[in-house]
Amino acid sequence: MTPQHPKNMTVGVVGLGLMGSSIVVSLLLSGHKVIGIAPIADDMVSAPERINSQLLHCEKSGLLNNSKEHYLSKVLFTANYETLKECAIVLECIIEKEDIKKEVYRKITAIVGDDVVIASNTSAIPISTLQQYVSNPKRFMGIHWAEPAYATRFLEITCGKETSPEIAKWVFKLAHQWGKEPTLLRKDIRGFITNRLMYAVYREALTIVEQEEATLDDIDKSFRYDEGSWITLMGIFRRMDMMGLNNYLEMFKNIFPKLSNKDDIHSIMQYIIDIDAKGTQNSKGLYPYPEGEAKKWDRAFSMFNKDISILADEYAQNRALIKDKYNGE
Ligand SMILES: NC(=O)c1ccc[n+]([C@@H]2O[C@H](COP(=O)([O-])OP(=O)(O)OC[C@H]3O[C@@H](n4cnc5c(N)ncnc54)[C@H](O)[C@@H]3O)[C@@H](O)[C@H]2O)c1
Repeated sequence: MTPQHPKNMTVGVVGLGLMGSSIVVSLLLSGHKVIGIAPIADDMVSAPERINSQLLHCEKSGLLNNSKEHYLSKVLFTANYETLKECAIVLECIIEKEDIKKEVYRKITAIVGDDVVIASNTSAIPISTLQQYVSNPKRFMGIHWAEPAYATRFLEITCGKETSPEIAKWVFKLAHQWGKEPTLLRKDIRGFITNRLMYAVYREALTIVEQEEATLDDIDKSFRYDEGSWITLMGIFRRMDMMGLNNYLEMFKNIFPKLSNKDDIHSIMQYIIDIDAKGTQNSKGLYPYPEGEAKKWDRAFSMFNKDISILADEYAQNRALIKDKYNGE
């Protein structure tokens, strides 16, 4: 596959909820024309509003090279799958339901050519399962973004059993042009990379709470101020190199046998589901949310995203800078 210049490439995004919208913004900022397919009527109202306000946020944060109107003129919102005809790549970003995704792939493949890359933003459904639902499964893979897609550098590309490694490498290259630091997972392991890691952390954290050994707040404090202080710079393994590997060996021997292997649901999570808590979405969650508090967290997250993206950019884009910084000090 020979990539067109990204600026000439039209990208389709099917599903314009939370993630679909911010993926549209990310693609617009990378210079693409975007076809945004709204599979449900609500999307036709909420997605343009959300995308407009995200572009406004980008404008205020100095992330735009052109006017907001310029970017908006490059996106088409429609319920008509026929418009995907001109796309070189189509990103599916609809609710996490296998049967609904299957139906959406049927609609996409009825329109686009066999060489058009189709990808899912699924967080958990195996790519090898989803790719059975498209003709020419070689061109299907997972492209997993992090919210808000226009401000995060994360992008996880996952091959299913039948994905062509060449096509996956082409997407990997393209992702750099989207300003990402992509990862390429050649084997379709459950949870891919990031969820595999985070769910081990969730299990351990919930177990500590369930056993009343520490509070939610203490666990969050520990994670924010320990891991949070180095993780964007160096990840896990460089951290280990910097901390002295022999110490880890001793710790592993002592701690591994103590970690949770629980494979059923923690009682606190069952309770939270039973009371229909949806976290900041309905101000009912693991923490209490008095009036206005959930909105404050949304705003803080949005500001933090901007700051962390600039910081990560500074360190990741120009690795020499890291050397210079520390050589100079
Ligand atoms: N929210 C996140 O942080 C996040 C992160 C990574 C991956 N994902 C994945 O991205 C996908 C979308 O998640 P989201 O958070 O944007 O969800 P969302 O609930 O915000 O949006 C869901 C969208 O799915 C589509 N949809 C709903 N019902 C449909 C139907 N019956 N038929 C066809 N389309 C329908 C609509 O476009 C709707 O806006 C999921 O696969 C999810 O696992 C989400």
